[in-house]
Amino acid sequence: MSEPSGISVAVVGLGFGEDFLPVYLAHPQVREVAVVDTDERRLTTVADRFGVEARYTDVAEMLADDRWDAVHVLVPVPLHADVAVAVLEAGKHCACAVPMALELDDLTRVVEAERASGKRYMMMETTVYGREYRYVRDQLDSGRLGTVTGYRGFHHQNLDGYPEYWRGYPPMKYSTHALAPLLALTGTTVESVVAHGSGTLTEDRRGRFDNPFPAEKGLFTLRGSDVLGEVEMSFFQVARPYIEGYDVHGDRASVEWPADHEGPLVVHDLLPLEEVQPETGLRGRRARTDLVVPPDDVSDLPRELARFVADFEVVPADGGPALHREAAHGGSHPHLVHEFVSAIVEDRPTAIDAPTAAAWTAPGICAHESALAGGARVEVPQFPTGRS
Ligand SMILES: NC(=O)c1ccc[n+]([C@@H]2O[C@H](COP(=O)([O-])OP(=O)(O)OC[C@H]3O[C@@H](n4cnc5c(N)ncnc54)[C@H](O)[C@@H]3O)[C@@H](O)[C@H]2O)c1
Repeated sequence: MSEPSGISVAVVGLGFGEDFLPVYLAHPQVREVAVVDTDERRLTTVADRFGVEARYTDVAEMLADDRWDAVHVLVPVPLHADVAVAVLEAGKHCACAVPMALELDDLTRVVEAERASGKRYMMMETTVYGREYRYVRDQLDSGRLGTVTGYRGFHHQNLDGYPEYWRGYPPMKYSTHALAPLLALTGTTVESVVAHGSGTLTEDRRGRFDNPFPAEKGLFTLRGSDVLGEVEMSFFQVARPYIEGYDVHGDRASVEWPADHEGPLVVHDLLPLEEVQPETGLRGRRARTDLVVPPDDVSDLPRELARFVADFEVVPADGGPALHREAAHGGSHPHLVHEFVSAIVEDRPTAIDAPTAAAWTAPGICAHESALAGGARVEVPQFPTGRS
């Protein structure tokens, strides 16, 4: 009898992990799915909802089972590095939610575990798989933006009332969403960073982290590019709704994120220099502004995953009315899953393999170090890919 085709995947952590479950279950190259959560009630609720039979409350027990080829880790951030290393050391492929880790040593541990295991690691960075990123990438590749001269990434999210492990979390240690688009667009890494804290974290919000700042701002210089990356992060004490985006300025056109996070992108095209008009005294060049809703592109997805780029319905396997699910993060989830599964099936590095993930995560760790040192310049280590 021939071996069944496709891979088997275990999803660990069923908060954000629940969003990925229907995508794996629908993927034509995934033959079997397991779920893992230490919270037994959560495990039963989600597994029953999706009709998943294979369930574990202990990651180690799942890792000891040869039945599972790959694992998607969506546990609290402080556990990311340890769980990712355990997955790779168990001889399984590992996808992991951002950020890769909280400390530089842990980045190195995961990079080494990937290399030693011969298995694939992927950091599931949503911002570089969303429809907005694809639109910006297309505008850059087509020459419409011209030469990039500026980048500003930002992520503001109020974490009051979040689970305990978020208390006092240093915002810059979660800066991959704000910074990765710049690094992906320019194909560069960060050379050094100068950052500052802004405001003072109230005593009742201080947690296990060495962090006195509700907000942090950093300037990142790149290797191989003269573009300066500006990043602004806040998790506490900033009165605004959630936003996670970036502006890219070119010398011909620019794309800016909508202030309300939900609306269309704001695109400015620089117009030709006009004659100075004596009656108005107008100087400088004007720009035309358009609002653009970036389109979804499902051409590189299997037919079965296309519906997950937009809001979708889940029909619970255990009965009850259909549940509405938002296709959050720019419709990136099916694209991320497909890249992870494809890399395993095609036996190639993932698009965000461990060295790339480390290169995208380290700058934020160094930025927090800089902020703690009052804005001292901090060099960011390199993580050679082994591909070059
Ligand atoms: N855009 C994005 O990329 C994005 C968005 C949201 C969350 N995230 C990341 O996803 C991860 C999960 O976030 P969340 O909001 O779901 O967190 P959460 O705390 O709400 O849920 C985590 C789940 O993991 C379970 N868990 C905890 N320890 C475990 C262990 N040792 N083994 C198995 N299960 C365990 C918990 O019981 C819980 O169900 C975080 O790292 C977060 O940063 C990324």
